[in-house]
Amino acid sequence: MNRKDAPATASPLEARYLLAQTIALQAGAMALEMFRHREQLVIEFKGAQDMVSAADRDVEQYVKTRLLDVFPADGFLGEEGGADRGDAEYLWVVDPIDGTACFVNGMYSWCISIAVLYRGEPMIGVVFDPNANELFHARVGSGAFCAARPLRVHAGTTLKDGVLGVGTSFRVDNDDFTAFLGAVMRDGGMFIRNGSGALMIAYVAAGRLIGYYEPHMNSWDALAGLVLVSEAGGKSTAFMENDGLRRGNPVLVANPEIWRQLAAHAGLRTPQTAATST
Ligand code: IPD
Ligand code: CA
Ligand code: CA
Repeated sequence: MNRKDAPATASPLEARYLLAQTIALQAGAMALEMFRHREQLVIEFKGAQDMVSAADRDVEQYVKTRLLDVFPADGFLGEEGGADRGDAEYLWVVDPIDGTACFVNGMYSWCISIAVLYRGEPMIGVVFDPNANELFHARVGSGAFCAARPLRVHAGTTLKDGVLGVGTSFRVDNDDFTAFLGAVMRDGGMFIRNGSGALMIAYVAAGRLIGYYEPHMNSWDALAGLVLVSEAGGKSTAFMENDGLRRGNPVLVANPEIWRQLAAHAGLRTPQTAATST
């Protein structure tokens, strides 16, 4: 799609929703090709357990070029290249490859994550898993889907009823995180960490995981998934508070009852959180 074939009849938000899905599929195909030849990639370390390759940079540049070709006045915030026109009315927030450690080591849990904000409000979320060929997408007020299938969060009422997704990083003090895991297990809960926070939040929207918790996520990891969960009837932490767009925030998503139980274990104070559509 380029400027001349952007849908003429779609609303501005609808046009971006369609474009985000198209770009995610194309960027995913590009990333998958690089994944299949990953022995050629040079890996650099940005910090402990934090790596980047040409695949991350090339896919981000591809996404940015494609969307600016259609919407040249839109802003962009990407994990690798940072912000460009960050105060634009429409802002695209992109993680070109979420799950880089999996990608470079030949594991399959990684994805492309694209969110679009309108005047600071997350409105569109698209997460594409090229290995499973699953496209998760949502627009505020229109529901969440995997391809054409509507999504709904897990209906469990106790932590024994499902598996919790978790993530963490060296951006936080992990003593609190391990204490959280202990509390979950004392309630009969169990957890997995697949290395892609964006994909696991999409799995919460799909009802595959009972919830997801990570003590700090960046906006490019979280925002697309948060729109998905909200549209699938889940509750989430108020990510945009305290300049979450630039500084990141904790992320907790689940159905409202499970969210309440997990928030207590994570020590999240109620005023920091907000319900989304339920
Ligand atoms: C990371 C993944 C991981 C999460 C980290 C993220 P990256 O992103 O989402 O699951 O726990 O917080 O930084 O480095 O693979 O793009
Ligand atoms: Ca990420
Ligand atoms: Ca990334």
